[in-house]
Amino acid sequence: MQTVRTSEELTRAAAQMKRGGSLALVPTMGALHHGHMALIEEAQRRTDRVAASIFVNPMQFGASEDLASYPRQEAEDARMLEEAGCDLLWLPLVADIYPEGFATAVSVSGVSERWEGEVRPGHFDGVATVVAKLLLAVGPDVALFGEKDFQQLAVIRRMAVDLNVPVEIVGVPTVREPDGLAMSSRNAYLSADERSQAVALPQALETARNAIRNGSEIAKALRQAKQSLVDAGFLRVDYVAVVDANSLEPLDFPQGEMRLIAAAVIGTTRLIDNIAV
Ligand code: PAJ
Repeated sequence: MQTVRTSEELTRAAAQMKRGGSLALVPTMGALHHGHMALIEEAQRRTDRVAASIFVNPMQFGASEDLASYPRQEAEDARMLEEAGCDLLWLPLVADIYPEGFATAVSVSGVSERWEGEVRPGHFDGVATVVAKLLLAVGPDVALFGEKDFQQLAVIRRMAVDLNVPVEIVGVPTVREPDGLAMSSRNAYLSADERSQAVALPQALETARNAIRNGSEIAKALRQAKQSLVDAGFLRVDYVAVVDANSLEPLDFPQGEMRLIAAAVIGTTRLIDNIAV
């Protein structure tokens, strides 16, 4: 695996990779786990070469969020990628991504506005901007993102279409722990007690999904899901909603392709999850 840092090194390495055939990009913020590695594996099935980036993107963190404490483990991440057979690792410098005087943002309206967009103002501008920049710099044929961040995936798809970025955006199913908790770099923040309570989140989603499939009213299933999270010890439930899987607009009645999405806080850690209905 070749590792590069500066834009110049990246440009040269990416061009070389593309001469060897098709190229995929897996953008990450590091602290890699099996969820990230599933993206690498799916990329390997789809293209000849696979590049990964690790960049803890300051622009997508709010002022009161965890930018400073976000887990960083570059050597361990590089080892995992190397072992998985990743071809290129890009560790961008903040100054390369955000040069002096940086003043441009990519803002996706509509699909980014509710849910995470409402609770984390500016978050999706930060995501869309950095992903657009990573795609422009690497020029991959395919870029892969997890369904774990379902709204993020929808925002990135919209951005790529709207900006005519010549890339295929691929969504990869969520990888979970044996008890059902979605893998996340932020799970590292959970205490042992919180970790065992956290499983209530995927359980609440499954219970609500089954209820809706069996004809329960959506509003009632969502009320019960929220209550079960509070009962399990979640301090705050930001949302539990059934949404249209493409527009992310809330649905009061079953219709088309539906996604059940949720965000809730346990201790000081905010967890998100979603499943197909
Ligand atoms: P990060 O949280 O590191 O996630 C990188 C990619 O891994 C994202 O596409 C995310 O959806 C995916 N992922 C995370 N956990 C997963 C799981 N349990 N199963 C499957 N995929 C999973 O998401 C970001 O970074 C950033 O916002 C980024 C897109 C890199 C832009 O900065």
